[in-house]
Amino acid sequence: MRLWFRLALAGLALAPLTAAHAADTIRQWQFAPSGETFELALREVAAPTPAANEVAVRVRAVSLNRRDLMMVEGRYGRGGTQPNSVPLSDGAGEVIAVGSAVTRFKVGDRVAGIFFEDWLDGSPTAASLATARGGNAGGMLSEIVVTDADGLVAIPDHLSFEEAATLPCAGVTAWVGLFKRGGLEAGDFVLLEGTGGVSVFGLQLAAAAGARPIITSSSDAKLARARELGAFGTVNYRSNPDWQREVRALTGDAGVDQVLEVGGQDTLPRALEALAFGGHVAIIGGLSGFASDVPVGTLMGLNATASGIYVGSRADFEDLNAFLTKHRIKPIVDKVFELEEAPAAFAAMDSGEFFGKVVIRL
Ligand SMILES: NC(=O)c1ccc[n+]([C@@H]2O[C@H](COP(=O)([O-])OP(=O)(O)OC[C@H]3O[C@@H](n4cnc5c(N)ncnc54)[C@H](OP(=O)(O)O)[C@@H]3O)[C@@H](O)[C@H]2O)c1
Repeated sequence: MRLWFRLALAGLALAPLTAAHAADTIRQWQFAPSGETFELALREVAAPTPAANEVAVRVRAVSLNRRDLMMVEGRYGRGGTQPNSVPLSDGAGEVIAVGSAVTRFKVGDRVAGIFFEDWLDGSPTAASLATARGGNAGGMLSEIVVTDADGLVAIPDHLSFEEAATLPCAGVTAWVGLFKRGGLEAGDFVLLEGTGGVSVFGLQLAAAAGARPIITSSSDAKLARARELGAFGTVNYRSNPDWQREVRALTGDAGVDQVLEVGGQDTLPRALEALAFGGHVAIIGGLSGFASDVPVGTLMGLNATASGIYVGSRADFEDLNAFLTKHRIKPIVDKVFELEEAPAAFAAMDSGEFFGKVVIRL
């Protein structure tokens, strides 16, 4: 049975709740164990209150990432899916209460959760990586979330809650891959694979920095949207199975200086064929399955660099926000669902029939 159908059934069967509910309770979706996998269940729980160092956030929007589908399927490696925990790493909302020791935020502030609640700056540690929201730490698909005040950032004024909710995972990952690890410069050719969350952020960030983004897609209609966002070049990877040759040709055979490698085993070898001498590959994803062979000879021969990226820290998120504010960049929210429609949002993510991000409004 298709994933979204099972999810929809779970939502109907386990969640006979209405919008009218007591003020001392809130609604949240949870991962309900179902054999080896999980189903989404809408549940009513006691409204949480913040401890001294904590903040209560009325979540207004959340966004989905490919990881969230892996979580519900019970096949996300690191930390795995915690039974009856709340899904989704990414959300934005308004501070509604602060603990007695909190000075970072006040009631009314507009905030987003950071992906790793305890990774604030510098390199991660095993402990900070064990605080990934929507995984080994509680997620954002809840009307109210209580979190350490350090685990939030202020969101840019020019963004709606729906737009800001797309930033914590996909936005920060694209930022770190291109700028912090890749050292992107104006004029660089940048390869982006497909038109999902990370890649469309990469497109917008690279275009704003004066780089030359080249993006691939299985859909000509999506490539047309990418050109409107400033793509220097576009290639349909479905009608051009050897798409890397076309990418290379678009650079005048110089090759691309940067790659956000989200495709994995099917795309990494081709991306390397398109890479310039001295180029950088940000190893991010495994949409076609995670690549397990390191192409040592190719990297050496190109004098190239490959970096493993796992989202980023709060400081990275703040750097991204400063760049978005400076360039007035608005994330691309393609589909918006209501809280009760969370299974349909997961189904939309699963279908691949979106451009940029899928969001749920709470
Ligand atoms: N390491 C990290 O910190 C990190 C952070 C975020 C994401 N990720 C990973 O990065 C990958 C992308 O995540 P996402 O959330 O951006 O995904 P997404 O939004 O779900 O992207 C889906 C899109 O990717 C494209 N795609 C699918 N298979 C492809 C293939 N074989 N070759 C090229 N494009 C393909 C399709 O674009 P078209 O419809 O245009 O063809 C599809 O619509 C996932 O594997 C995710 O787990 C890792």
